[in-house]
Amino acid sequence: MFAVYAAEPNAEDPLAALRVGERPEPDVPDGWVPVTVRAASVNMHDAWTLRGVGIRPEQFPMILGCDGAGTLPDGTEVVLHSVIASHGWTGDETLDPKRTLLTEKHQGTFADTVVVPAGNAVPKPPSLSWVQAACLGTAWLTAYRMIFVRSGLRPGQTMLVQGASGGVATALIQLGRAAGLRVWATGRSDAKRALAHELGAHQTFASGERLPDRVDGVFETVGEATWSHSVRSLRPGGVIVCSGATSGADPGAELRRLFFLQLRFIGSTMGTVGELRDLISFLDVSGVRPQVGMELPMEAAARGLEAMLAGDTAGKIVLVR
Ligand SMILES: NC(=O)c1ccc[n+]([C@@H]2O[C@H](COP(=O)([O-])OP(=O)(O)OC[C@H]3O[C@@H](n4cnc5c(N)ncnc54)[C@H](OP(=O)(O)O)[C@@H]3O)[C@@H](O)[C@H]2O)c1
Repeated sequence: MFAVYAAEPNAEDPLAALRVGERPEPDVPDGWVPVTVRAASVNMHDAWTLRGVGIRPEQFPMILGCDGAGTLPDGTEVVLHSVIASHGWTGDETLDPKRTLLTEKHQGTFADTVVVPAGNAVPKPPSLSWVQAACLGTAWLTAYRMIFVRSGLRPGQTMLVQGASGGVATALIQLGRAAGLRVWATGRSDAKRALAHELGAHQTFASGERLPDRVDGVFETVGEATWSHSVRSLRPGGVIVCSGATSGADPGAELRRLFFLQLRFIGSTMGTVGELRDLISFLDVSGVRPQVGMELPMEAAARGLEAMLAGDTAGKIVLVR
């Protein structure tokens, strides 16, 4: 079948490991289902896979794509949950020490067909297009859990989103606005800050700019480049929720501020299948739709990855079949 895959790990030149070609038709174990892929989105996780981060060398070649939407053999339209819990695990799948994401152990969604446990295929409402549905399983689910499960923030409080145009950042801005939070965002250019405004940010700032007031919560996916600003932007007792470290994961201490101001640091990863269902329901009832900055045929996956690695984003990058 057609597939976009990583042939081997390449830490220095991830795109050199990318192949567009053919892979064997997948087997379907008991309790798993084949899904004909209609659309999938590009995530930074695909770049980590090409670099060999978070995946063992013997797992290559690996089909990329850790979210997507498509159809079951009976025609049911589904959104994919990418977190695969180990056999017998019950409860929050993200806390299973043996859980993997699609593309870490099992093949991903940049292909004609992906095979997932039956419970990982969640019904797609007709109100969401394939392209919109393809954005939900990774970036949007991560943003949903960060705000509504992990942060403890309430409507009316102020959240700062570090980054304006990325997949998770745009989801945070759109979801936060729809939920009644005051949304502030930082962006690295006028165009990125203008996008954040369009998506609902009440105020935007240049990266690292001093804010007019301290915020209740900061939402981090950038890491080293924004960490100090994140800590300094919080009110006493405030919370940083972090799900990524694109610019580096060695942020420096800021320990004194952490304990003197009684700040809370909370990690967050992906979300449960129940949270994915709730996210889909939220979009269905609220009318919020993922911001898509680029739509490409799946064959052109390299262009999407190149744009993401260059920071040339305006929301999600989606590949269609
Ligand atoms: N833990 C999880 O479950 C999970 C899930 C999804 C993503 N992630 C992680 O979250 C991170 C973001 O993912 P994504 O898919 O949203 O990536 P993306 O679409 O490429 O977005 C990158 C974002 O980071 C910002 N940024 C990058 N470098 C920066 C710098 N030097 N200074 C300031 N801002 C910078 C960009 O800000 P501008 O808008 O200003 O360009 C942009 O908003 C990645 O590291 C990814 O691995 C983790």
